[in-house]
Amino acid sequence: MIFDTHAHYDDEAFDGDREELLLSLRDQGIEAVVNIGASIQSSKNTLELMARYPFVYGAIGVHPNETAELDENWMEWLKQAASAEKVVAIGEIGLDYYWNEPEPEVQKHWFVRQLQLAREVGLPIVVHSRDAAKDTLDIIKAEGAGELGGVIHCFSYSLEMAKEYLDMGFYLGIGGVLTFQNAKKLKEVVAYMPLERIVLETDCPYLSPVPFRGKRNSSLNLPYVVEAVSQIKGVPSEEVIRQTTLNARRMYRLAEG
Ligand code: NI
Repeated sequence: MIFDTHAHYDDEAFDGDREELLLSLRDQGIEAVVNIGASIQSSKNTLELMARYPFVYGAIGVHPNETAELDENWMEWLKQAASAEKVVAIGEIGLDYYWNEPEPEVQKHWFVRQLQLAREVGLPIVVHSRDAAKDTLDIIKAEGAGELGGVIHCFSYSLEMAKEYLDMGFYLGIGGVLTFQNAKKLKEVVAYMPLERIVLETDCPYLSPVPFRGKRNSSLNLPYVVEAVSQIKGVPSEEVIRQTTLNARRMYRLAEG
């Protein structure tokens, strides 16, 4: 069964049918989902979803574009929250200069602080990086974050950059973008990298694969991503599912059930 390593089921896009959709997942081949915090509020929502559904795990953290809300009191709250059962990572954290808000110095400060938090609580990281390739890599190296393990989510950089992260032991999160016609760079990365380092993700409600591009995404669309990986790597789709689920369980340090 498929493991969705990155979803945002607390998003208002799911307000109309969240319960029904989540309860349908396991019957449709989705084994587990990690709901990813992107702000203090969505980290709180993640804790609630995790408590409610046995197959939902959580990452808590503050997305770079939301870091203006952070202060040391909230860092303390995050640290407490990270000790909850079923919290499997700190994230999503990182740098986003596409949405250049707040200013880079603020984003960098809270990226470093949240890396330190991951170290304190002993959890892997979920990294969001957009239009900030150099600064992200510099900080990850300076902080020795390779030791923490985790994933570069929605990987969107070059093959050279992919090699840097693979060398440090990171997984790369692969989702709907792989099915886009213009995803040439990403297809090169997937062709190059070992299947043992790919984890599947939706980033839902965003980034639906073709043929649903532009529509609301959910874990139910992951078979289209599996198919794309299968074609690029010349490996049967059952093997893509088996290996990526094993990868996800290793990355999030869950029993290899
Ligand atoms: Ni996300």
